[in-house]
Amino acid sequence: GQVEVLHWWTSGGEAAALNVLKEDLQSKGIGWQDMPVAGGGGEQAMTVLRARVTAGNPPTAVQMLGYDIRDWAEQGVVADLSETAKAEGWAEVVPEPVQFFSTYDGAWIAAPVNVHSTNWIWANKQIFDELGLSEPTSWDELIAALDKIQEAGYVALAHGGQDWQDATIFDAVVNATGGIEFYKAALIDLDPEALGSDTMKEVFDRMAKLRTYVDDNFSGRDWNLASAMVIEGKAGMQMMGDWAKGEFINAGQTPGEDFLCFRHPGTQGTVTFNTDQFVMFQVGEEQRPAQIELAKSIMEPSFQSSFNVVKGSVPARTDVSDEAFDACGKKAMADLAEANANGTLYGSLAHGHAAPAAVKQAIYDVVTAHFNGEYDSETAVEELVNAVEAAQ
Ligand code: BGC
Repeated sequence: GQVEVLHWWTSGGEAAALNVLKEDLQSKGIGWQDMPVAGGGGEQAMTVLRARVTAGNPPTAVQMLGYDIRDWAEQGVVADLSETAKAEGWAEVVPEPVQFFSTYDGAWIAAPVNVHSTNWIWANKQIFDELGLSEPTSWDELIAALDKIQEAGYVALAHGGQDWQDATIFDAVVNATGGIEFYKAALIDLDPEALGSDTMKEVFDRMAKLRTYVDDNFSGRDWNLASAMVIEGKAGMQMMGDWAKGEFINAGQTPGEDFLCFRHPGTQGTVTFNTDQFVMFQVGEEQRPAQIELAKSIMEPSFQSSFNVVKGSVPARTDVSDEAFDACGKKAMADLAEANANGTLYGSLAHGHAAPAAVKQAIYDVVTAHFNGEYDSETAVEELVNAVEAAQ
């Protein structure tokens, strides 16, 4: 058999992780037809998918995030994995917030390959050592560190000006500024009071402050090129989900020696997550066995370990040991378990797990326009309230 897989894993670290999956399938005699569509957050991939499904020719499986999965399920074009899920006991081992996106109307329609989180900062250890910096634990400490790095002549904040990257920082700043309950009220419940609050104005003020630490060439830069700036010692920090770790690892770097990973100050004890899931589409009977084998392979505990060690994410099952993971991965696994137990685990807005695509896009537009100086903070708050209302 053969599977055709649509995905947006095109960076060095992502390709290395994907290879783990390709090789695993190859060892089972299943061929891989690659269908890469670059673009973090998967916007471009979803556009290509729409064209394929409209043409009546969907891929076997598609990397997908959060509410996009539910949207496609609603359209009745995805395959049912429930029999396999039941036989393999997925319901017992996949955390409930992850399962919410793997199932629709009681049926399993996707195989979750990982859990990522967005409230991370990646830092160059040598620059931190040279400037006598330690991991900042508050907004003021973060700003003091960024100032020091900038004064020393480095780019303080490596960033790529793309809407989903701006929104990834916004996830963390909303959480850090108002707390996780405020994050939930604003970005998950879409409460107009929270969206229009003074706290939200402070969020935008902080975004504007962070904007002063990026370099002149940030516009349009891909996220992995921003990671490379930190890896190469040109920039001090990057605020990005833990797929960034995949780039550091792929460059041969070690956490604690070459780079640091820490939670965005003020978000410790909370996790804003996204989970990459492979959604199976309705394909011809002859393709079905390979499709089922792909889903089963993705869910194997040993595969979840070897894949996520490379990808920078953590397993989507609770029964996988953290033994093979580095210090950042061990922390990510412990943080996820803690946040899940404490009710401080929420879906990432930037990566499609807080609100449906239309609302996500509406928020992207306001955040990016403000980041690029089109709105002051007060206008951004007004625009946010209106845009979210109009998108629902
Ligand atoms: C995905 C990650 C991916 C990142 C950058 C996120 O939306 O969940 O798996 O590495 O985008 O491409």
